[in-house]
This record gives sequence, structure tokens and C-alpha cells, in this order.
Amino acid sequence: MTRQLANATLAILLAAGARAAAPPAAAAPVRAVKDACLTCHAKLSDERLRKPAELASADIHQTQGISCAGCHGGNPAADDPTVAMDPRKGFVGKFTPQAIPEMCGSCHSNAAYMLRYAPNIPTDQLSQYRTSKHGLALAKGATDVAVCSSCHGAHGVRPPSDARSPVYPTRIVDTCARCHADVALMSRYGIKGNEVAEYKKSVHYAALVEKNDLSAPTCKSCHGAHGATPPGVSSVANVCGTCHVSQLERFDQSPHKDAFAALEQPACEACHSNHAIGHPQDSWIGVADKQVCGACHSAGDAGAVAAGAISGALAKATAAETAARARVGKVKRAGMLMDAADVKLEDAHQAYIMATVEIHTVAVARVEKQTEVALAATAAADKDAAAAEAEIRYRRTGLFVSLIVIAVAMVTLALKVRSMER
Ligand code: HEC
Ligand code: HEC
Ligand code: HEC
Ligand code: HEC
Ligand code: HEC
Ligand code: HEC
Ligand code: HEC
Ligand code: HEC
Ligand code: HEC
Repeated sequence: MTRQLANATLAILLAAGARAAAPPAAAAPVRAVKDACLTCHAKLSDERLRKPAELASADIHQTQGISCAGCHGGNPAADDPTVAMDPRKGFVGKFTPQAIPEMCGSCHSNAAYMLRYAPNIPTDQLSQYRTSKHGLALAKGATDVAVCSSCHGAHGVRPPSDARSPVYPTRIVDTCARCHADVALMSRYGIKGNEVAEYKKSVHYAALVEKNDLSAPTCKSCHGAHGATPPGVSSVANVCGTCHVSQLERFDQSPHKDAFAALEQPACEACHSNHAIGHPQDSWIGVADKQVCGACHSAGDAGAVAAGAISGALAKATAAETAARARVGKVKRAGMLMDAADVKLEDAHQAYIMATVEIHTVAVARVEKQTEVALAATAAADKDAAAAEAEIRYRRTGLFVSLIVIAVAMVTLALKVRSMER
């Protein structure tokens, strides 16, 4: 174990040393006068050797004049390949996985260097990476964990804001999936490997791919990109709460906050799961099979009683709203303008949604306060519908009376005409 660590450290030091012997990257001229590496490699027939040169034009580094030698070292001014690619002068052809973070980090964690090119790019990737599960495993000698180039690529590297970058929000899931959906690889680390498949069933993934909602979380929103790690029981609430502020606020006011911590239950995850998060339903609330409260409460205890009351209050509000919507819809089809009632129904629906947010306090009174607001608004809309129905009846009666008056007048007129003809 200690030996392994020492070996890994040695490998890293050697790699770092090799790089230091190269024309120091950080001191390299912004634009090399001559780039024999690129010129020669662009003409090579072996695709493995030619491809990096072809991708250079799309590479963020190349646009800053950082070419092949910026990462591989060597002498870009020499046409003779043995001189250009002389390992004794610091050239590195193939990087070991252990050498890659150190190599990328030699520039990216050098704040003074990065400041010259792109002052707004953070310089903490390497230090974060070292704390990640990936970095920790790499330091122990693993060669199948993610290194910088697993996520960003090595050639044709693009900024994360570029939609073609493998770390762009809509593409990152597939980038993590290359390893995380590989069950054989994951099982070697005691990880199920179903996380991607589960995530793809979630409302979050649907929002991302169907609505192109870039605010929906991807793997890195909950785990971090460079510091990738499971959030851990105590941090789950904060992870979800960065986006779902109202639910977190209420959860924190609930008796569950301390109770879950004592039981080491991850806050939101206990009821919502972590990856396959679905659209919540009223029918979740209760202690029957498949209902969320039943995982910890059983019939008769205080939690179950609260669940019953909450679920009853929601059901009442939903039934009233459904009935009022149907009634308003009917008078609208009969040609009445019902804008005011529509506004009241919308208010009722908002109050109902607030009631579902209040569920996170598990305080019956707070849920009922909102369902009362919903019921009042629904009742007002219902009253508008009743008035409109009366108006329709009144108009129908009026129409009937005037039809009779007209008919009588017509008959009288006809009789008159006939008597005049006679
Ligand atoms: C005159 C042509 C020529 C020049 C100049 C040249 N290379 Fe190469 N390079 C080759 C050939 C051919 C190979 C494959 C043969 C070999 O592995 O030695 C190669 C291999 C490589 C490899 C892969 C090594 C491996 O072990 O798979 C890298 C990386 C590389 N070159 C980078 C560079 C860099 C960086 C420079 C400039 C400092 C450079 N090359 C300059 C022709 C060239
Ligand atoms: C941003 C750093 C960076 C730059 C710039 C860069 N490389 Fe690389 N290169 C790497 C890394 C990292 C690897 C190892 C890739 C891996 O293992 O996924 C690599 C691998 C290679 C390989 C081996 C590919 C293989 O599949 O075995 C060749 C050949 C190569 N680079 C050539 C070049 C040439 C030619 C250029 C210039 C056009 C260049 N590289 C520019 C980082 C870089
Ligand atoms: C020789 C120094 C150097 C090395 C080595 C280097 N980079 Fe860079 N990298 C830069 C500079 C400078 C920029 C800023 C370019 C710009 O924004 O114009 C940059 C930009 C980037 C960006 C885009 C950041 C953004 O938000 O626009 C990514 C991603 C990136 N590098 C990844 C890597 C990876 C992965 C490696 C290793 C395989 C690597 N870099 C190696 C100097 C380097
Ligand atoms: C597990 C995947 C992964 C690994 C490994 C990884 N990155 Fe990143 N990187 C990302 C993602 C995703 C982003 C997008 C920005 C974000 O959300 O932090 C990113 C962003 C960046 C940026 C741009 C930061 C910015 O805010 O503009 C740089 C530079 C960068 N990475 C360099 C590196 C370096 C250097 C390494 C290795 C030490 C590395 N990355 C390892 C996934 C990764
Ligand atoms: C090149 C393969 C590879 C890629 C790409 C990759 N990972 Fe990993 N990841 C692994 C391996 C292997 C482990 C297991 C390491 C360990 O547990 O020691 C791991 C572990 C993790 C863990 C810790 C799991 C646990 O229970 O310990 C998280 C979280 C994680 N990765 C997130 C991500 C995210 C997010 C991405 C994409 C941005 C990503 N990974 C991309 C290979 C990869
Ligand atoms: C909405 C937040 C969220 C998103 C999005 C998310 N995860 Fe997770 N993930 C979690 C939580 C919470 C855990 C459980 C952590 C704990 O209990 O410590 C977890 C656990 C994991 C684990 C460890 C599983 C184990 O058995 O140890 C891996 C690996 C993982 N996630 C990978 C991914 C990958 C890959 C993606 C993208 C497809 C992803 N996650 C998306 C929140 C998320
Ligand atoms: C990066 C922000 C972000 C994070 C982190 C996040 N979410 Fe979400 N979540 C969203 C967005 C955006 C939606 C809206 C999807 C949609 O369009 O319906 C959503 C939707 C939901 C929904 C469905 C709401 C509904 O009415 O259908 C639930 C439940 C949910 N998230 C729970 C969680 C939990 C639990 C976590 C933590 C494990 C979490 N979220 C982490 C942004 C986030
Ligand atoms: C005790 C179980 C439980 C816990 C713990 C829990 N939720 Fe909920 N969550 C629910 C139920 C039940 C619903 C509403 C179902 C419905 O629509 O009637 C819900 C609904 C939601 C919604 C949809 C919008 C809304 O409020 O109706 C989001 C988003 C959400 N929860 C996020 C979270 C977050 C974030 C946490 C952690 C801070 C969390 N939940 C903790 C049970 C829970
Ligand atoms: C992960 C387990 C778990 C889940 C799921 C859960 N609870 Fe709880 N709940 C607890 C624990 C533990 C306590 C504190 C101990 C106790 O009083 O039973 C508690 C306490 C309560 C209390 C306060 C009881 C009192 O004595 O004052 C109420 C009310 C409550 N829960 C309602 C609910 C409702 C409603 C749901 C479903 C929406 C739910 N709980 C889901 C574990 C859970």
C-alpha cells in the first residue's frame, strides 16, 4: 500500500520532471515561429498520428498558439523527427494516465500563467481533481478512472460553453456514461453502474433533452465535475436545495431535519430517490405500499395521521378545482366570457401548488392554510359560473318570449293581409 503510493508519487514526480525539462510550457512563446510537429503530422498516413493535427484547428489551445509541443514537449523548430521528438529533451509521446492531470495542470493550476491568456478561467481544476474519487483512485495506481482528457478530450479541446464540447450540459451525460454505464468496469469498484440509466428516467433529464432546459441538473451539478464525489448523506439536501430553495427551507423547518440526520437518512433522497426522480403525485402521501411515508411511519402513529390529513386536504382541493373547471368550461362553450373566473381558478391552482410545497414541513395546519385559500378561490370561480348559468337561462327565456311575440305579430299580420285581400 505505502509502496504503491510511493511508486505513484514517483511516477508523478518523474512526469513532472520530464515536463520541467521541456521548453517550459509556461514560458513558451505565444506563437511558435515554426511548427514542424503540426506540419509533419498533418501529412502522416497513420490516422492515429494524423488525427491530432487535423483536430488542431478546432483546439482552444491552438488558437492561443499552444501547439503539440505545449503538451508533449520536444522541439517544434526541428524538421528532423529524432531531434524534434527527443525524449532526452523532454518529449513525451504517450502519457501514462497518472501523468495527464499533472501535465494539464502544469498550466491550468498556474494562476500567473493563466492570467495572461484567460483571467476569468478558474485555476482550481487540478487541486479539486486530486480530492475527487477519480483523483484518489488514480493516485493509488488505477488506470481506468477519468483523467482530464477522458472528459475534455486531448485534441480539439473546446471551451465547456461550446455546444460541441463533450462537457456541454446536453452532452456530459454521455461523457460520464462511457464509464459509468459500463457495468463490468463499475462492478470492480463496487458501484452498480445503473446510475445513468436511472437518471435518464428522471424529470431532470426530460427537462434537459425535451425542453432544452440547461438549468436542469446533469451528473456534474450534483457531484461536481473536477471534484466528482457522491454528495454524502449530510449534503444531499444542500445539493438539491441549490435549485429547490422553497422545499429545502420547509424541510429544514420540519421535524424530519433532525430525525433524518440522526437516522443517517439523506434528506430529499429518502422520498424522491437520487437519480430516477419522478414527477411527484398526491397519491404518494400515505403509509400504504408504494406511498413514501410508509417507509418509516405505520398506521396510527403521528406521521401516518398527518399523512392522512394532508392527503385529505389535497384531495378536497383537487376535487373542488376539477368540478369548478368543468362548470366554467361548460358556460364558456355556451358562449360566455369567463376571464375573471379563469383568473380565480389560476389563483386556486397556485395555492394548491403552494400546499404541495408546504408538505415538506409535514405540518398539517400549514398545508391546510393553502388548501383553504385554494378552496376559497375555487368557490369564487364556481359562483361566477353559477351567475353565468343564470344569465344563460335568463337569455333563453327572453329569447323564447320574444319568439312568441314575433310569431303572434306575424300571424296577426298574415290575418290582416288576408282580410285586406278579401
Ligand atoms: C518529420 C516528421 C515529424 C515531426 C517533425 C514530428 N513528428 Fe511526431 N511522429 C512522427 C512519426 C513518423 C511518428 C510515429 C513513429 C514513432 O512513434 O516514432 C510520430 C509520433 C509522435 C507521437 C506518438 C508517440 C507514441 O509513442 O505513440 C507524438 C505524441 C508525436 N509524434 C508528437 C510530436 C511533437 C510534439 C512534435 C514536435 C515537437 C513532433 N511529433 C514532430 C513524425 C514527426
Ligand atoms: C492539450 C494538450 C495536448 C496538445 C496540445 C496535443 N496533445 Fe497529443 N496527446 C495529449 C494527451 C493527453 C494524449 C494522451 C491521450 C489519451 O490517452 O487519451 C495525447 C496523445 C497523442 C498521440 C497518441 C495518440 C494515440 O491514440 O495513441 C499522438 C500521436 C499525439 N498526441 C500527437 C499530437 C500532435 C501531433 C499534436 C499537435 C497537433 C498534439 N498531440 C497536441 C495531449 C495533447
Ligand atoms: C501549455 C499550457 C496548457 C496546457 C499544457 C494545457 N492547457 Fe488548456 N488552456 C491553456 C490556456 C492558456 C487556455 C485558455 C485559452 C483561451 O481561453 O483563450 C486553455 C483553455 C482550456 C480549456 C477551455 C477553458 C474555457 O473555459 O475556455 C479547456 C477545457 C482546457 N484548456 C483543457 C485542457 C486539458 C484537458 C489539458 C490537458 C490534456 C490542457 N488544457 C492542457 C493552456 C494549457
Ligand atoms: C469527470 C469529468 C472531468 C474531468 C476528469 C476534468 N474535467 Fe474539466 N470540466 C468538466 C466539466 C463538466 C466542466 C464544465 C464546467 C463546470 O461545470 O465546472 C469542466 C471545465 C473545465 C475548464 C473550464 C473552467 C471554466 O470555468 O471555464 C477547464 C480549464 C478544465 N475543465 C480543465 C480540466 C483539467 C486541467 C482537468 C484535469 C486536472 C480536468 N478539467 C478534468 C469535466 C471534467
Ligand atoms: C474514464 C472513465 C470515467 C469517466 C469518463 C467518468 N468516471 Fe466517474 N468514476 C470512474 C471510476 C472507475 C470510478 C470508481 C473510482 C473509485 O470508486 O475509487 C468513478 C467514480 C466516480 C464517483 C464516485 C462514486 C462512488 O460511489 O465512489 C462519482 C460521483 C463519479 N465517478 C462521477 C463522474 C461524473 C459526474 C463523470 C462525468 C462528468 C464521470 N464520473 C466520468 C470512471 C469514470
Ligand atoms: C439530482 C442530483 C443527482 C444527479 C443529477 C446525479 N446524481 Fe449521482 N448521486 C446523487 C446522490 C444524492 C447520490 C447518493 C449519494 C450518497 O448517498 O452519498 C448519488 C450517487 C451516485 C453514485 C454512487 C453510487 C454508489 O453505488 O456508490 C454514482 C457513481 C453516481 N451517483 C453517478 C452519477 C452519474 C454518472 C450521473 C449522471 C448520469 C449522476 N450520478 C447524476 C445525486 C445525483
Ligand atoms: C441544478 C438545479 C437542480 C438541482 C441540483 C436539482 N434539481 Fe430538481 N429540478 C430542477 C429543474 C430545472 C426541474 C424542472 C423540470 C421541469 O421542467 O419540470 C426540476 C424538477 C424536479 C422535480 C419535479 C417537479 C415537478 O413538479 O415535476 C423534483 C421532485 C425534483 N426536481 C427533485 C430534486 C431533488 C430531490 C434533487 C436532489 C437530489 C434535485 N431535484 C436537484 C433543477 C434542479
Ligand atoms: C417526507 C418525504 C419528502 C421529503 C423528505 C422531501 N419531499 Fe419533496 N415532495 C414530497 C411529496 C409528497 C411531494 C408532493 C407530491 C404532490 O404533488 O402532492 C413533494 C414535492 C416536491 C417537489 C415538486 C414541487 C412541489 O413542491 O410540489 C419538489 C421540487 C420537491 N419535492 C423537492 C424536494 C427537495 C429538494 C427535498 C429536500 C430538501 C424534498 N423534496 C424532500 C415528499 C418529500
Ligand atoms: C425516512 C423515514 C421517514 C419518512 C419517509 C417520513 N418520515 Fe416522518 N418522521 C420520521 C422520523 C424518524 C420522525 C421523528 C420520530 C417520530 O416522531 O416518529 C418523523 C416525524 C414526523 C412527524 C412528527 C411526528 C410527531 O410526533 O410530532 C410528522 C407529522 C411526520 N413525520 C410526517 C411524515 C409524512 C406526512 C411523511 C410522508 C410525506 C413522512 N413523515 C415520511 C421519519 C420519516
